[in-house]
Amino acid sequence: KLRLGVISALVEEQEGLVEAMKGPQKLSHGMRDYTVGSLWGIDAVCVLSRIGKAAAAMTAAILVEKFEVTHIVFTGVAGSGDICVNVGDIVVAESLVQHDMDARPLFPRFEVPLTGLSHFPSDLTLSERVVGSAQDFLADDLKSVFSVAEAKEFGLDGPRVHRGLIGSGDQFIHSRTQLGQLKEALPELLAVEMEGAAVAQVCFELGIPYAVIRTISDNANEEAAVDFMRFVQTVASRYAFHVVKRLCQR
Ligand code: ADE
Repeated sequence: KLRLGVISALVEEQEGLVEAMKGPQKLSHGMRDYTVGSLWGIDAVCVLSRIGKAAAAMTAAILVEKFEVTHIVFTGVAGSGDICVNVGDIVVAESLVQHDMDARPLFPRFEVPLTGLSHFPSDLTLSERVVGSAQDFLADDLKSVFSVAEAKEFGLDGPRVHRGLIGSGDQFIHSRTQLGQLKEALPELLAVEMEGAAVAQVCFELGIPYAVIRTISDNANEEAAVDFMRFVQTVASRYAFHVVKRLCQR
């Protein structure tokens, strides 16, 4: 029986979902609140991981082991990792890399020691459903969810959905040099965030299908902190809510 785990780092990335749950039951464990209930007919568990790889790994493991979820979707914001990816666009992970993992010279850069992997592939079926939900959201819902003035103010100018590599690290990327150095080592990088690849490793090791969907909040440059704060407070939750809604309705 399908049971979907929905993780976000911050409350703004998941606002509205818990309220939309039918028959919600709150359970606190390991300093997090897990809400079990039904989302548009899908048995689901919503939780906030907080920021960073360890927090995300802990949350994903508890979702599987204690709450017995069968699938995990991580939804949140990310910095752009490529000039083709704009603020307001959506990136769905094809694979994820822990960009701050570096056990050289014992193991190649980015490889998670003794797993033999640097790039963790997301579940294709689930990710394609997420892509479809994101495309439908941008095509059909955006106009009703944001006024013309809001879309202009937030820079939502014909946003698009991308599939590709997401990098996660315990670093908020906020300079062109920082991002440039990452891009040199990982040229195919589309987005940078701080949790996805940790969830990916946990799900890989436990055999749980997962997807990571990120809305671009900033360009991971010197303006990133200001752009991130503003985007999270104004746009993030509306994206997350409607994409998860469409996903559950699929
Ligand atoms: N999440 C959103 N923007 C980010 C950035 N620039 N770096 C890391 N994580 C992020």
